[in-house]
Amino acid sequence: MNNEKYANMLIMPELNTIEKRLLPFGLLSELRQQTPVRYDSVRNCWDVFSYGEVQRILKDPKTFSSVRGAAGGQNLLFIDPPKHKQLRDLVNKAFTPKAIQGLVPRIEEISADLLDGVDGVDMNLVSDFATPLPVIVIAELLGTPAEDRAHFKHWSDILVESAEDESAEAYEAIMRKRMEAMQELAQYFGQLIKVRSRIPKDDLISALLAAKIDGVQLTEHEVISFCVLLLAAGNETTTNLIANGMRVLCEQPELQDELNRSPELIPGFIEETLRYYPPIIAIGRTATMDVELGSQRFKTGDQIIAWVGAANRDESVFAAPDRFDPRRMPNPHMSFGFGIHFCLGAPLARLEGKIALQMLTNRFDQFQLPDGNDLVPIRSSFVFGVKEYPISFVRR
Ligand code: HEM
Repeated sequence: MNNEKYANMLIMPELNTIEKRLLPFGLLSELRQQTPVRYDSVRNCWDVFSYGEVQRILKDPKTFSSVRGAAGGQNLLFIDPPKHKQLRDLVNKAFTPKAIQGLVPRIEEISADLLDGVDGVDMNLVSDFATPLPVIVIAELLGTPAEDRAHFKHWSDILVESAEDESAEAYEAIMRKRMEAMQELAQYFGQLIKVRSRIPKDDLISALLAAKIDGVQLTEHEVISFCVLLLAAGNETTTNLIANGMRVLCEQPELQDELNRSPELIPGFIEETLRYYPPIIAIGRTATMDVELGSQRFKTGDQIIAWVGAANRDESVFAAPDRFDPRRMPNPHMSFGFGIHFCLGAPLARLEGKIALQMLTNRFDQFQLPDGNDLVPIRSSFVFGVKEYPISFVRR
């Protein structure tokens, strides 16, 4: 079944309508109950829907590899041990909860500035707030000049886009766009790295260039790949966390009252948003050996899609999984992955999500999707979110 194409760039046939992509969780639960592990001949891959099996895949990188060809690039996300640990240890320092805590005042300032720019009683949540916030935070962390920010949004959008349909032409078109975007980004960071190598600044690029563990230093190429990864992995995901959280508030207005009464629930609300409407719903792996999983036999080279969006609603782990409960404890969702590739940016994403929700609910009240507006899902096989999100509110 070895195939050159990567199944996680193709949309699952059952999700090929706007309605289904806007709300795929009922269908994913049905599939999990009927066939926890099944083979899809259209995308030429295995789909895995149950919590236990998804976790087994993510925690066994030896059997289920993250390595990709040119489509993925040689970054943290697409390499296996032992190289993975070496690279991750080098970059980890900048992303610990303690290091991230130092960003609170700046994230608050950026959020406040963005919301100061909103007039009247409605906004486009995605373009006015949820998109620029993480882009500015990452761009500042890396140390890129402010005037380059609009380009980042464009590049990070392309890197998560899926093919228009299942045809070879559509697949090739998207691959070409991706490779172009990757090359442009690599060129951009290549130039910036040259400048920072000569004159370091107090930014992440300079820190990455200087970092050493046991005498090992990142190559210029590895620094570039890491910068590209941060943009691809950190921007749209965080945008969708904020937008998906606000979608929950608009769909279940009683939760707005609850957060107003008990703002200390916001971290739990963010955690439950991650479980309930995960920004990444599916994660790809490749079998490195013949292996049995959920009574099915995978062969070496088979592609596997681990459906985090289905695992997060598995009733054997989560009581009343379709209920949104900001007090859910414990909440072992796998929306940041699991095991060695667990999201490096999770502390940053959680912090941005928390500050965003605090600011929005402090300033505004009674959020809703205005009549006559339909949400349009992002066309992607692994990202869950909406393209634009108009919301109206009452100012406090
Ligand atoms: C890895 C989700 C935000 C950087 C991952 C993985 C998931 C994920 C599911 C694991 C993928 C796999 O196992 O193949 C998310 C979500 C986010 C978010 C839902 C927002 C709500 C961020 C941010 C950054 C970031 C803000 C950085 C600024 C990374 C990196 C990896 C990663 C570098 C690769 C880690 C490794 O392979 O060791 N993320 N992410 N992410 N994420 Fe995030």
